[in-house]
Amino acid sequence: MKKRLQVLVAFDIGVIKPRGYGYEEEFKGPAFATERDVLRAIRDNGWEARTVGIHNDIRVLIEEVAERRPDVIFNLVEVFDNKTYLDKNVAAILEMLGIPYTGASSEALFLCNNKGLFKKVLRYHRLRGPRFQTFMRGHRVWLPKVLTLPCVVKPLCEEASRGISEASVVDNEAAFIERVRFLHEQMNSDAIAEEYVEGRELYVTVLGADRLVVFPPREFKFGKRPEDEPRIATYKAKWDEGYRKRWGIDSVSAGKLPNGAWERVQETCKRAYRALNLRSYARFDIRLTPSGQVVILEPNVNPCLAEEDEVGLAALKGGLPYDRLIRRIVSLALTRGGPAKKRRRAA
Ligand SMILES: Nc1ncnc2c1ncn2[C@@H]1O[C@H](COP(=O)(O)OP(=O)(O)O)[C@@H](O)[C@H]1O
Ligand SMILES: [Mg+2]
Repeated sequence: MKKRLQVLVAFDIGVIKPRGYGYEEEFKGPAFATERDVLRAIRDNGWEARTVGIHNDIRVLIEEVAERRPDVIFNLVEVFDNKTYLDKNVAAILEMLGIPYTGASSEALFLCNNKGLFKKVLRYHRLRGPRFQTFMRGHRVWLPKVLTLPCVVKPLCEEASRGISEASVVDNEAAFIERVRFLHEQMNSDAIAEEYVEGRELYVTVLGADRLVVFPPREFKFGKRPEDEPRIATYKAKWDEGYRKRWGIDSVSAGKLPNGAWERVQETCKRAYRALNLRSYARFDIRLTPSGQVVILEPNVNPCLAEEDEVGLAALKGGLPYDRLIRRIVSLALTRGGPAKKRRRAA
């Protein structure tokens, strides 16, 4: 009988557990919705799955791989030792171990994590992003003449809107400088200031390596937030359920976009995906301006992947139910490296 595909689900966790520990209790909580759903979908696809939780000692992963030699690793590791920027190092280790893995390469994680760097690459490919300036810690802070206020001042290398609040939108020089300094001194983070881009906020998922699929857009709705004020998805607006309810903030299917905008959105996201050498799945945060321009705010590589997250919902709307989405992602990992290399198919 043909051996079933062996999938190792690697993820980050704040505590150390012995190798082989099942994580059933932990996965019941909302913090592990992605891990729980991915694991279930892998098993529903008829594959064998093991899990490895990684905190601050990478040996647990290396030993697991050495002993079990999984066919593929489903990489859900977003932080190592509480440091978000070390996700790329974990992917780099997977590359050294020579096991196919899902999601972004170490190179793409490095590139997309830095909100200044990916913009430079996208600009080279003539893809539109907001004008910006980066401010490294220990250097002078000033308001550059080329930037038009209001600006959004953000941590250079963060995600999930950490460090982004209403105070991140600044409309005068003093507030601009104060916010950059706040990020430097209070968050211990380099900063980026971008011109504020008005418009609808859309989340667009792209899946694939050579042939790309773009799923129907999702939209972040700002509810009762005043329309004449800058509207941004702050940390609170994303994660504080009480606050979201109070203001009627929600994310929904964007429906049909006006005047050929959907074609432009798809084209832009596909070009950006290729420019950044993404080959698995990614979700773009974009703004569709009142004049119909498509502006990329950021690519999210390895975005949240629970069934009810943006990617899962967009895929479903696009005709790909969750179990098949996970199947497709695994299958992309197995064929990565090109058809020349003989790899096991996700049969
Ligand atoms: N230049 C900008 N113009 C308008 N809104 C922005 C801009 N930059 C960020 N935002 C708002 O802040 C949110 C978070 O910014 P983003 O760059 O996506 O950071 P994160 O990686 O933390 O999600 C965006 O979803 C958007 O609502
Ligand atoms: Mg974002």
